[in-house]
Amino acid sequence: MTAPRVSLAHLPTPIEALPRLSEDIGGANLLVKRDDCTGLAMGGNKARQLEFYFGDALAQGADTVLITGAVQSNYVRMTAAAAAKLGMTCHVQLEERVDDVGVAYRESGNVLLDQLFGAQIHRFPVGEDDVAADAQLDRFANELRAAGRNPYVIHLGLGHPPLGALGYMEAAREILEQQHTEQLQIDEIIVASGSGQTHAGLLYGLRTRGSDLPVIGICVRRDQSTQLLRIQDHVSGLDALTSQADVVCPDDIVLVDDFLWPSYGVSNGHSETAMLKAARLEGLIVDPVYTAKSLAGALHRATQIGAGKSVLYLHTGGTPALFGYQPEVTALAANN
Ligand SMILES: Cc1ncc(COP(=O)(O)O)c(C=O)c1O
Repeated sequence: MTAPRVSLAHLPTPIEALPRLSEDIGGANLLVKRDDCTGLAMGGNKARQLEFYFGDALAQGADTVLITGAVQSNYVRMTAAAAAKLGMTCHVQLEERVDDVGVAYRESGNVLLDQLFGAQIHRFPVGEDDVAADAQLDRFANELRAAGRNPYVIHLGLGHPPLGALGYMEAAREILEQQHTEQLQIDEIIVASGSGQTHAGLLYGLRTRGSDLPVIGICVRRDQSTQLLRIQDHVSGLDALTSQADVVCPDDIVLVDDFLWPSYGVSNGHSETAMLKAARLEGLIVDPVYTAKSLAGALHRATQIGAGKSVLYLHTGGTPALFGYQPEVTALAANN
């Protein structure tokens, strides 16, 4: 299968050691795959995924791209940037997923960049209804079509081919190659599991290449039983896209939701500790919504599997969101 693809990301991203963080937690050795450094508009995992969505959009002759996400969505920001780079119009729909937010959340970070990239911003009052959010995008797309445009919708809900996961099948190939050429010990991989395309694509890519490396998805949006259905759905979607079957067995999908509380987009003690440790021991930025929670999961896992083992933490980006959470981050840094 060759899916249409455009080049948007700086690849390969490096794998680096985290010696001071590893020493601090006193368990397994920690490595980080720097997908926060994919280049496009401050980087992040979505650059790899968008290579396939924009490839498909261009193959269909689209001139406009539509996407929905949280107010501080990294996906939305990177889509706006990619559309600008490729000379396309971009409509973004920002959903109210987080309660009690302030001015920074509404105006800084990713929102500021959406505006800078010239995206047309629409607001959506509901944050937990993927189907309704997609339906609204489809309505906009119909209006644009009637006005003579050729829109392409990047849907959030299930029931659409998981083209973004193809980017992470490629990342799996990249990791296995780096493991081989750099002689890296990797015993398991930890990744944030949100829409699930990164998690599913990585797992599928590893298994397609005969690797049985465990992949642990840290839930950042939904509890593990709901997320499991999502990953299963993406795996079926990848079966269809790649004309394969039985690549991933049911037990291969491992999810942990211990770091999700109290809810999507709201920090907890574990994620705050992970954010401070990453910054102060390694000069590494993780964001409050996704990567502080997935890193908290990686730190916990490293203490569980213990010395002599090695955990690869897939850093999926999110840097601009830090500025959307400025008051919280200022308080955290000042009080520690
Ligand atoms: C920084 C960051 N990390 C992780 C994720 C989760 O990736 P996925 O949606 O592919 O599960 C996202 C999703 O938006 C993200 O922005």
